[in-house]
Formats: sequence, C-alpha cells, structure tokens
Amino acid sequence: MNFKDVYENEHVTRKFTNRKLQEKTIAEIIKKAQQSPSLLNSQPWRAYVLMGDALNEFKAASLDKVNNKEAAHEDFASMLSLDWDTFPSRNMVTMGASQSFFFRNKLQLFNDANKTMFNAPVIVFLTVPKKSPAWSVFDLGIFAQSIMLLAINRGLGVMPAHSMVSYPELVRKYARIPEDEAVGMAIALGYVDKNAEINDPKYIPKRVPFAEIYKVTE
Ligand SMILES: Cc1cc2nc3c(=O)[nH]c(=O)nc-3n(C[C@H](O)[C@H](O)[C@H](O)COP(=O)(O)O)c2cc1C
Repeated sequence: MNFKDVYENEHVTRKFTNRKLQEKTIAEIIKKAQQSPSLLNSQPWRAYVLMGDALNEFKAASLDKVNNKEAAHEDFASMLSLDWDTFPSRNMVTMGASQSFFFRNKLQLFNDANKTMFNAPVIVFLTVPKKSPAWSVFDLGIFAQSIMLLAINRGLGVMPAHSMVSYPELVRKYARIPEDEAVGMAIALGYVDKNAEINDPKYIPKRVPFAEIYKVTE
C-alpha cells in the first residue's frame, strides 16, 4: 500500500472475521516496529502476543469479571494521574468513541464489541517497566502507532483498546508478563469484518476543528 492509503485507513476495527492470523506475520510486524524512535534509544517496550487457546481462555476469564461487574483497574491508572483537563474532557463528551453509537441508539453494539474483545484472533499486549518516566509511555505510544500502521499496510485491521487491559492480573497470567512490567495497552489485530454494522464508517467520530489545536507564531 502507499503511505497515503495506509494513513487514511487508520481507523479502528470493532469486529474481526474468524480468519486466523499467522504468528509469523505478527512477528514480522513487531520486528519492523522496533525501528520506532525512543528517548535516548531506551526502547522501553515489550510485546506479548496472545492467540489460540490461551487467548480464548483469557477472553473467557475477562468476560467473567465484566459480567460480575468487577471494576476495571488498569496498571496505567495506578501509575499515572487520571485527572483530565477540560479540553480532552469536553472532546470525550462531544465526540468520544462511544458517542456516535449512543446518539444512534446503538450503544449496545459498542459495549458488546468491547466485552467480546472484538472477536480478535490475536491480541498484542504492550508493556513498559513499572519503573518508567512519562517519556517511556510516550515511546510506547510511538511503538504502538508503528505496529498499527505496519499492520494496516499488510491489509489487517487494528483495534487499540484499554478495555482489554482492564484486569492486568489476567493479562499477566495468560500472556506470562513479569510483575515488574506495567501492562500498558493492547492492540487487537485481524481481518476486518466488512459486513459488520459496527465497522460502518458512519461511526467514525469527528476530530476537533483544526484551528483549536494549531497555532503558529512567527
Ligand atoms: C489508548 C487508546 C485506548 C482506546 N480504548 C478503546 C476501548 O477501550 N474501546 C474502544 O472501543 N475503542 C478504544 N479506542 C479506540 C478509539 O476510541 C478510537 O481510536 C477513536 O475513537 C477514533 O476513532 P478511529 O480510530 O476509528 O478514527 C482506544 C484508542 C486508543 C488510542
């Protein structure tokens, strides 16, 4: 794909088909993503891939917790402040991910997709050491973006979702992640189910007017 097509295709996929993904493909993507820049080349990231039976078991264990209404407790929530300024808070209220579903009376679609982890055949969990400065979280974001663009370039759909790291103790158990690493984010990969209503482009949320985020001084 050319870069323009890859970039313009970067919208999340909330329902994947049942088609399996080869482990070799994932390894190639993650290996290429290692080229990402990081502070002083510290490369604080690690990637843990869950697929097959281990993924199914993880999904079932997570669903139990969701159904039992266990509160989410992401590692990043305990490491970093969850105080939001009014600017992002306002954006979430007016154009947040679930709002385009809510306003069409389709919130259930959104919630069910998150509960079932988007029918993903593969989930990549991204970690940084618990002992990390904010720089490492910034670096992890760059690494994540590289993974997603590389995956899209190979014709895959991507789904970054904090809902998949709501219960880090389960991620740690099934993906075999050491205690001293924070389970930062998860990216589901797979083939886009083009017939699924939830993947309809009408649900892609709007962006903030450019003038609100851009300022030039000469
Ligand atoms: C850090 C991060 C966490 C996210 N968590 C979720 C999530 O838990 N559930 C979900 O449905 N979407 C999640 N998303 C996807 C965003 O809602 C989505 O990227 C955004 O609404 C813009 O939509 P688009 O990517 O389709 O353009 C997350 C994205 C990021 C970058």
